[in-house]
Amino acid sequence: MGDNALSLSLGARREAALARTTEHVLRAWNEFDHARDRETVADEDLEELLAASLPEHGSDVLEVIDQATEVLDASIAQSRPRYFAFIGSSGLEVGALADLLAHSYDTNLAVDARAATELEWQAGRWLAQFLGFPAGTGTFTSGGTISNITALASAREAAIPGAREHGLGGAKPTVYCSTEAHYSITRAAEVLGIGAAQVRAIGIDDERRMRADLLAEEIRRDRIKGYTPVAIVATTGTTLTGAVDPIDALADVAQEFGVWLHVDGAYGLPAAAVASRAHLFAGLERVDSVTVDCHKWMFVPKACSAVMVRDVASLAKVFAHDEAYMPHAGGHFNAVDITLEYSRPFRALKLWMLFAVHGAAAVREAVERNCDEAQLLYDWVRARPLFETLENRPQLSIVPFRALVEGCEDPDAHNDALCSAIQRDGRVYVSPATIDGRVWLRPCFTNFRTTPEDVAALLDVAEELGRDCSLHA
Ligand SMILES: Cc1ncc(COP(=O)(O)O)c(C=O)c1O
Repeated sequence: MGDNALSLSLGARREAALARTTEHVLRAWNEFDHARDRETVADEDLEELLAASLPEHGSDVLEVIDQATEVLDASIAQSRPRYFAFIGSSGLEVGALADLLAHSYDTNLAVDARAATELEWQAGRWLAQFLGFPAGTGTFTSGGTISNITALASAREAAIPGAREHGLGGAKPTVYCSTEAHYSITRAAEVLGIGAAQVRAIGIDDERRMRADLLAEEIRRDRIKGYTPVAIVATTGTTLTGAVDPIDALADVAQEFGVWLHVDGAYGLPAAAVASRAHLFAGLERVDSVTVDCHKWMFVPKACSAVMVRDVASLAKVFAHDEAYMPHAGGHFNAVDITLEYSRPFRALKLWMLFAVHGAAAVREAVERNCDEAQLLYDWVRARPLFETLENRPQLSIVPFRALVEGCEDPDAHNDALCSAIQRDGRVYVSPATIDGRVWLRPCFTNFRTTPEDVAALLDVAEELGRDCSLHA
């Protein structure tokens, strides 16, 4: 091969580049074991680097690896044990290694990729077994949003056969979920031609779970008006508070009306595998499809979601195509036949390596520890007069709480400002959420590195900064 053919290879710099990367990764992993005092912010040099225009000629790879690491160090990283915002993850070490391997081989999991395809099916079976979902099997996607769209596309085809080909015609499809379902359900209705206005937001009980009686009433009413119910979506672990909709009761309604039941467990479903939480997921074996994000509470790096279905043919019914350039081999559906994507990275490898290296028991223990941390925070918050919590104990690992300072006239503005102050301060990272019109700090525990000391640090920082009523002045 001539020199030109290798111009994009690292050539003789390969080993040095890999060694430098290893050095940085090792330092980062060691650092992630403990919280750091403050976040690093971009300095002037870094700002200059980030404003630079397109380089016509390259620089030394070691220098660029160092720069990339500086950028990462000055960024918000979910791998850190005191990242409590939104729904984080952990950047699991073996997951990162799996990604390096997968991306180096750049296997495309679109049509049959031989052993990698077999591994993807195996990882799907392992995941189903871990969760206790008797799946025919499933497929891996880029996130909960896409998994939900994928499942609801199947539900639409089941409710309105031929919709993929002929459109919805005169059908008036509807989807049912709780008022606190993730907005990806609405997005799914939008892109599937169901329409956001046809998403019925069903009321919740005092534990913020969808009410099966209201659901049944709504479906009955819609049926009379000529609507076609496409799917009921149970959220098992709402984004706002971690409430788990009652699957069994919703499955009764789904059965009565013959409607597809989907579980959006993007965040919370891994808790179905742990002893103290399994009861919340009773009825999981009765549902048609589930979403679970392995890049949330199964700790692997983004992006790795799974949509599991009772009957894999239901995915093929809506996604399979017969194209001249798409060979069918290997004895089962091609990934392109059961997903929205064509080019697909080897996402399943990181989940497979998680189970292979650590075993299912260690994953269950890590999820259980996060649930314990939520209970701990709830008790600690209730013991401090400065704060209030929701009335009910956390079902999973989200614990909304807020500071109520005497003489502070606008508690919502105060808690909003407190959140910003905490983020600026940098010792812990938490995001705000509005629940019943009031502003709360909303920590979520999904990181295997988080310890009770980290939980205590969150409360200490919130108390220290939260006393200052002038935050929002
Ligand atoms: C319940 C629920 N469903 C779906 C999603 C969307 O997942 P993703 O961000 O992977 O698309 C989220 C994200 O937080 C979620 O909490």
